[in-house]
Amino acid sequence: MDIIHLSAECYPVAKIGGLADVVGALPKYQNITTITSQVIMPFYDNRFTKENIFTTVYTATLNLGSLTFDFSILKLKEKTLDFDIFFVDVPELLFKDYVYSPNDTERFLAFQIAALDWMLTWDKQPDIIHCHDHHTGLIPFMLQESNKYEAFRKIPNILTIHNAQYQGWFPHDKVNLIPSFNFNNVGLLDWAGSINPLAAAIKCAWKVTTVSPSYMEELKTSANGLESLLSQESAKCSGILNGIDWNVWNPETDNYIISKYNTKSLEAGKNANKKHLCDTFNLDFNKPLFAFIGRLVGEKGSDLFPETFKNSLEKNNACILLLGSGNNIVEHQLKALKEDHVGTYNTFIGYDEKLSHIIYSGADFLLMPSRVEPCGLNQMYALKYGTIPIVRSIGGLKDTVIDISEKNGFGICHDHVTVTDIVTAIDRGIELYKNKVIFKKIRKQIMTIDHSWDASANEYINLYKSIN
Ligand code: ADP
Ligand code: GLC
Repeated sequence: MDIIHLSAECYPVAKIGGLADVVGALPKYQNITTITSQVIMPFYDNRFTKENIFTTVYTATLNLGSLTFDFSILKLKEKTLDFDIFFVDVPELLFKDYVYSPNDTERFLAFQIAALDWMLTWDKQPDIIHCHDHHTGLIPFMLQESNKYEAFRKIPNILTIHNAQYQGWFPHDKVNLIPSFNFNNVGLLDWAGSINPLAAAIKCAWKVTTVSPSYMEELKTSANGLESLLSQESAKCSGILNGIDWNVWNPETDNYIISKYNTKSLEAGKNANKKHLCDTFNLDFNKPLFAFIGRLVGEKGSDLFPETFKNSLEKNNACILLLGSGNNIVEHQLKALKEDHVGTYNTFIGYDEKLSHIIYSGADFLLMPSRVEPCGLNQMYALKYGTIPIVRSIGGLKDTVIDISEKNGFGICHDHVTVTDIVTAIDRGIELYKNKVIFKKIRKQIMTIDHSWDASANEYINLYKSIN
């Protein structure tokens, strides 16, 4: 079975968040004897020198309405990843040093059209086309409706929704950018008055998945604009929980961290990593260390961090370390807080993959007070590194973290995203930290929870088989 994943991100090539981690791992775990899984993604930046590392496998021009663009399909020369990865290079549109920009309609439409144009030239059609998020959401529509891609009509395709907050909306006056289709069916593209690639994919894909079962249920009921559509299409919808890539996220083999460890050497290993963090960021090693890693956006509850951290830090019984970037006002407030809490608080505004690994390994607790969390990978990384997650019970966080007050519980959960709830959850963490016997027992227990990709990759394969 040949599977093609189409995505805007893929680790380690281009990563903004968890989408990259998933698309960089899932094909690896699907690439088993009878299955070949490959990725097609846009070619963005100047990280690689084109001439040295890539071979050009195809060149042509593509039409975007009345405009024409040259494009190439590039392939990595060396098989550096555990799967084949192809890049759509449209120099005029995609070749930028950013992944996303406020107006991406033309960029991602060009990506999708170029990928399909190239696939038309293949000797053998793939067995499954797997689209990820709205950046590839027009593909199921084009496969079904576009005259140009009529040959692809029978190829089963899947949409995985990683985050329905972003739907790729654009106005109707750009509809002519999509290759010719029966205009009587233009309604398939429309949702609530604009062209909505995510909604179009939900309507046209053969199967629709979300990255956790709870998120699918929430999308059917919460006010995200897609609730009635998902309820209507519910027969083809399901949730498959993400896994984590143990080749990349494993404290026993992680070259980024200061001291490697497993369940046996956990206390020494975590202490060495915590010591490094405390020395680097001037934090008190003897206090419990609470960390946050992520995008500073409303979904993650980050607007409440300045006040929450201030309240917690005033009690002077914990340290907080944050790694993230996003909203400028929040960034500014978080930096300003440093002045009053030297020795117990620090923040690194920016993106740093290596530092994130060190924080997962050295922190005692990881905070995730998300308003929306389709799956969340951070809490699963934290578990693997023996770091206790403190989460708001929502989406994938609800599916992966059980509160310590419950049978076999190992995390701290709260129901609401308020300053009071988060401060109370941190206080519960501080109490747990004092009870060294239970604290150590939980750290050890969580490192053995299996969130590897094997089970989830298999669930996707079963889903493919059901439509193939
Ligand atoms: P989302 O995709 O919504 O941002 P996830 O929990 O699925 O959330 O995945 C976030 C991924 O991005 C994780 O691999 C996390 O470690 C990483 N990440 C987020 N922000 C940063 C940052 N500032 N520096 C390094 N890694 C980050
Ligand atoms: C999205 C979601 C996140 C999920 C990730 C990978 O970015 O916000 O919750 O873990 O995709 O599926």
